[in-house]
Amino acid sequence: MTYPKLCIPEDKITKEADLDPASLFAFEPEKFIFEIGFGNGERLAQHLKQEPKTSFIGAEPFSNGMSAFLKDIEGEELPNNVRVHMDDAIPLAKSFKTDSIDQIMVLNPDPWHKTRHHKRRIINQDNLDIFSRIIKPGGMLVMTTDVRDLIEWMVTEATKHPDFTWTAEEVADWKNPPKNWIPTRYESKGAKGADRMHYLFFQRNK
Ligand SMILES: C[S@@+](CC[C@H](N)C(=O)[O-])C[C@H]1O[C@@H](n2cnc3c(N)ncnc32)[C@H](O)[C@@H]1O
Repeated sequence: MTYPKLCIPEDKITKEADLDPASLFAFEPEKFIFEIGFGNGERLAQHLKQEPKTSFIGAEPFSNGMSAFLKDIEGEELPNNVRVHMDDAIPLAKSFKTDSIDQIMVLNPDPWHKTRHHKRRIINQDNLDIFSRIIKPGGMLVMTTDVRDLIEWMVTEATKHPDFTWTAEEVADWKNPPKNWIPTRYESKGAKGADRMHYLFFQRNK
């Protein structure tokens, strides 16, 4: 069983800002990336290999997604630079120490199309407060979506938050993925009726 070897122990999810991500790894990484809702994790599996000196923390409550990811990374040796959490990412985010994460990635979050469900969208002011507390000053919040209504929503929510600044300077900055970008499965597939993929990079103010 791979999950027990890589999962974050339940007693570390305190929601009390006392979890140092460094304590989850047996080496000193150059940075910490926290991916929220990695789906089947194909992108994350590639990212681990692309950046062996970075530590990755992935949260995905969907058990089929978690098993697909674990199957993908199983081999002679498990990668030493990943830890996973098969549940809601928010209690875990609340557990991390202040200024402890270099980058949060929220890629193609569930759109919750109906107006009465908008409050369930993961990008909202309450969660942005949590993200801004744990992201190091100068660190990044990376979001993608191809859902028109959600593009506007995420840009509006993140722009109105006092701790984040949109780094885009020209249209190409949000229309094109950056160099070395690894697409998610959803992104490669493209959804029916979807708009163009948008790449939204917000910096945590210094
Ligand atoms: C539309 S899928 C996108 C999956 C993947 N990021 C991709 O682009 O292929 C959204 C994912 O977010 C996960 N998710 C939803 N709410 C979450 C939460 N609170 N914490 C962690 N993951 C969540 C869902 O289980 C689902 O796998």
